[in-house]
Amino acid sequence: MTNFWAQLPKHFFALAPMEDVTDTVFRELLASKAAPGKLHVVFTEFLSVDGFLHPVGEEKVSHRLYVSRQEREKLSTKGIKLVAQIWGSDPEKFFEASRRIASEFEFDGIDINMGCPVKKVVKNKACSALIKTPTLAKEIVEATREGSGLPVSVKTRIGFNEVETERWIGNLLDVKPMAITVHGRTQKMQSDGKADWNEVLKSVRLRDALKSETRILGNGDVSSYEDGLEKAASFSADGIMVGRGIFSNPAFFAVPQSMEPGERIQLLKSHISRFGETWEGKKNYAILKRFFKIYVHSFENATSLRTGLMNTNNCLEGLQVIREFEDLKISIPQ
Ligand SMILES: Cc1cc2nc3c(=O)[nH]c(=O)nc-3n(C[C@H](O)[C@H](O)[C@H](O)COP(=O)(O)O)c2cc1C
Repeated sequence: MTNFWAQLPKHFFALAPMEDVTDTVFRELLASKAAPGKLHVVFTEFLSVDGFLHPVGEEKVSHRLYVSRQEREKLSTKGIKLVAQIWGSDPEKFFEASRRIASEFEFDGIDINMGCPVKKVVKNKACSALIKTPTLAKEIVEATREGSGLPVSVKTRIGFNEVETERWIGNLLDVKPMAITVHGRTQKMQSDGKADWNEVLKSVRLRDALKSETRILGNGDVSSYEDGLEKAASFSADGIMVGRGIFSNPAFFAVPQSMEPGERIQLLKSHISRFGETWEGKKNYAILKRFFKIYVHSFENATSLRTGLMNTNNCLEGLQVIREFEDLKISIPQ
């Protein structure tokens, strides 16, 4: 096993796993735009181990593990590592799912979701609910490591109802995951309030006191590349994980760190085309609508193009609306 986590530079950047966002198409686009050395790790959307091991469920969930040839090429050219994220509550299932993921796919690591706060998963004693069952959480890390033989990491929060970083992160450090992403919010906070990076610092100090090799990533509210570097330096994080920041700037990991509207429209066209080639008929087109406002803004008539796009029903229609807009020769700053 190559523990790539240990080889990453101080202050490495990771793109957060995001459901219906970080599929192979979006990861490919971001990797192609990323400047060398600015993005180090990307994650899949989270995959249910129960679903994956279920004869009927597997077909519904395994798209999350799909990696296109185009993405693979971009990642390897830029040296970006790819990690599959899984969730569940039964260690045996983690063992079996991670064994299969390691033998049937080519991921650099496996990440365990111990942070998702939504009711449905918490009711199933999974994700952030594992904060309340520390022994089970440890069993899951061990089962995943044994099953996969890959570097195992954990993404989590700083507590369930209350902040309890020392108890919870200390518990995880006992089983020596290769990395822990600390999202500076409790389950109760969901996405509200401000992420508390002091708890990231607390996690790093705990790690140092235990002389552990686990790398600590801070996560929450990173608004720009510089903001990430500043937070990492102020709170001693080894790595910075970026989630929603990418929505306000798809050039987050690029140089220069902004795109002219014309460039954003070209990226949107690539996104729609690659989505169509990869997923048409398999995934709902509506998933793409979240991206329209990310690419289409800050130029004259942007609202009318966005409205036109929101009324489309498939990739061909989406591309057609953009073509018609371009044919009107409305000037989009290039
Ligand atoms: C649309 C969306 C989907 C998400 N899906 C996942 C997921 O599949 N797995 C996970 O661990 N976290 C998921 N998250 C949480 C993010 O990874 C991240 O922890 C959170 O957004 C805080 O970081 P940020 O402030 O940089 O966005 C999701 C967040 C958003 C906004």
